[in-house]
Amino acid sequence: MEKLIITGGRPLYGTVAISGMKNAALPILFACALNRETCILHNVPAVKDIETTVAILTAMGISIRYLSPTTLEVNGANFRPCTSPNAFVRRIRASSYLMGAELGVAGKTRIAFPGGCDFDGGRPLDLHMKGFEAMGAEMSTYNDGYVGEAPDGLSGAKIYLNKASVGATVNLILAATLTPGHTVISNAAREPHIVSLARFLNECGANIVNAGTSEIQIEGVSALHGCTYRIPPDMIEAGTYMAAVAGTGGSVTLTGVYPEHLQATIDKLREMGVEVIDNNALETVTVSSDGHLSAIELETQFYPGFPTDMQPQFAALMAVAKGTSVIREAIINGRFAYLEQLKRTGVKTIGEAKDTAYIEGVAKLSAANMTATDLRGGAAMVMVALMANGTSEIRNVHLIDRGYDNIEGKLTALGADIVRCDEDADYPAPVSEKSVKAPSGLPMK
Ligand code: UD1
Repeated sequence: MEKLIITGGRPLYGTVAISGMKNAALPILFACALNRETCILHNVPAVKDIETTVAILTAMGISIRYLSPTTLEVNGANFRPCTSPNAFVRRIRASSYLMGAELGVAGKTRIAFPGGCDFDGGRPLDLHMKGFEAMGAEMSTYNDGYVGEAPDGLSGAKIYLNKASVGATVNLILAATLTPGHTVISNAAREPHIVSLARFLNECGANIVNAGTSEIQIEGVSALHGCTYRIPPDMIEAGTYMAAVAGTGGSVTLTGVYPEHLQATIDKLREMGVEVIDNNALETVTVSSDGHLSAIELETQFYPGFPTDMQPQFAALMAVAKGTSVIREAIINGRFAYLEQLKRTGVKTIGEAKDTAYIEGVAKLSAANMTATDLRGGAAMVMVALMANGTSEIRNVHLIDRGYDNIEGKLTALGADIVRCDEDADYPAPVSEKSVKAPSGLPMK
């Protein structure tokens, strides 16, 4: 197990290249199970959830070859449905996408309960089940997971989601792609990763229209063919670096981003007093901040609203913003466990309900030891450590590694003092070359 050791108080300057979107790459990798031909995927992020997905799919007969650290060659010709390795399935939420893929290919599914970030409110999959049932599958649970079968095969159906769930929308697209007939998903999720999945599948010969709207139409096709596809940039990784600069002060240009995916985050940063210049043509966003922020009110919403996956990082900013800020979490119940850890650095809440937090800004945070509770909560801990006086330690880094590619390397290049080392080391002996050096000569805040 590893930890991050971060000495705060340094502003961030420079340029950071944003990796491919984890939440787009995951469904696309599972979609390769529907395809007997070879696909080349570029810009796949080098994060732990992708490694886990590659392990699951490989164990199920899918051939995956790394042509570079971010380019994968994937062939699903030998996919064996219902053979997923439980231990890996339990590590990530996206393993639920196996259900759609298995039902689509074989008319049956069996998987362990998926894992991923475990929030207090639980993360039900009832909408996925209802959708599969509408397509003709009988779904149930067994001790360890989900099982389903469509004795007469799936057929196209009209499905209404009573929440615009990302996961349910992905799973139903996967199930419907090779299913005879016409499927309509109403109140579908509109996130960029849904659009990206549909584009990828259409490149492979699928017939999916209106992805990105609330009503997706799918006409089943009999087979897919290979294609080459580039994963779009990760809007949450981008938002996290934008928020980090806002908090530490400095000026950083993000490259390889789609500013149109970042509008809700950009809007809230501007409201806090941060300068943000976005350039669609160049695919860049430049964030400049003197570290002085104003309190805001924020409510998470489905896309194009403010993303729940940026909520903890904004709590970190609110901790040093002048005045009292409010967060209303409307998407994921119980997503505040990370706040207890942030409080160790002096983050002050003046009231917390299940889905609301009031945060009163303080002048300065102090270093503390924290343990990541979940992926984005862990990112918020990195942010408060970057802002705090003194040296902080963050344990459970493997949770942060699920969604951030080389976080210490990217931050080091921007001037942060951050080192990765073994959890039991009391001296920060670096575990990799890339995390060793902080550039010197940058002005202190
Ligand atoms: C995806 C993202 C995750 C992000 C979330 C919301 C991936 C791999 N993960 O998760 O990073 O935080 O979207 O943007 O892409 N719900 C139900 N029943 C269901 C499904 C969902 O009640 O069958 C509710 C739950 O309260 C859940 C909320 O809807 O917490 C959001 O779920 P969903 O949009 O499905 O998120 P995920 O696909 O799990």
